Amino acid sequence: MGRERIRKAVIPAAGFGTRMLPATKAQPKEMLPLVDKPAIQYVVEEAVNAGLEEICIIIGKGKGSIEEHFAPSPDLERFLLEKGKEDLLREVRRVSELARIRFLLQPEPRGLGDAVLQARSFVGDEPFAVLLGDDILVGPVPPMTEVIRAARERGGSAVLLQRVPREETVRYGIVAGTEAVPGLYHLTRLVEKPSPETAPSDLAIIGRYVLQPEVFELLEEVKGDRSGEIQLTPALEGLARNRDVWGVLLNGRRMDSGTKLGYLKATVELALGREDLGSEFADYLGEILKEYRRGGFEPS
Ligand code: G1P
Repeated sequence: MGRERIRKAVIPAAGFGTRMLPATKAQPKEMLPLVDKPAIQYVVEEAVNAGLEEICIIIGKGKGSIEEHFAPSPDLERFLLEKGKEDLLREVRRVSELARIRFLLQPEPRGLGDAVLQARSFVGDEPFAVLLGDDILVGPVPPMTEVIRAARERGGSAVLLQRVPREETVRYGIVAGTEAVPGLYHLTRLVEKPSPETAPSDLAIIGRYVLQPEVFELLEEVKGDRSGEIQLTPALEGLARNRDVWGVLLNGRRMDSGTKLGYLKATVELALGREDLGSEFADYLGEILKEYRRGGFEPS
């Protein structure tokens, strides 16, 4: 590989989480549990598994519980120690020792691009990773690792891609480019949330990126969109004009924990994948579905 190692990760977690209201009224969406871990912990663990050593989480106002989650909890640890609950103690300590995590505040929720811009001094002058908290990904190789590998082997920046149904292009950054080798695209266009009619393809960006530091200058120039938000995708299109931007097709499954249905799917899939819960939960689901199909449930 030979190129510069990618050590730093930025995880934006500053949005209002409107798609999960009212659960997110007084609680960050990133802290909603998937089985027994808050969603953001899965993302931090993926970053750590991909070899990223320094993590910067961009938080908004009212997101202090994210910071608390990754900090040591001396009272809780003492309590678990006294009660002899060593497994739980180990787990609680592991969370606060996962990585070196710094927290930075995005003063106003002005969009993903603006959130990434807050990390400029943390990143400095080296390529860095961005992981979005809503996308929970599982694959044979951690998807972040695949994106890092593409950026290091080919040079430039890289994003993770997944094909989406045409009618859903309005929910994603959509790209166009040429397929260099199967599953790897050299990107020329990156458009934020186009309509199905104007979308350049059905390849959507999903929340894993490796970006060159030039992206910060480009972000400074991005104008607010119709709702005043500074998006990340226009800066990526700027990057593609001067340097290579690669698109790596996801080899694995993605769960969008930022929507109600996606959140339910993520909970079920993660629970089914658990050694301690999977088979009992599968039996339960089988039974409950039979009952549901017999018409046994009233809408709540
Ligand atoms: C963001 C990005 C979009 C990307 C998506 C992936 O959108 O702006 O380009 O496709 O994440 O999940 P958001 O979901 O924050 O609206």
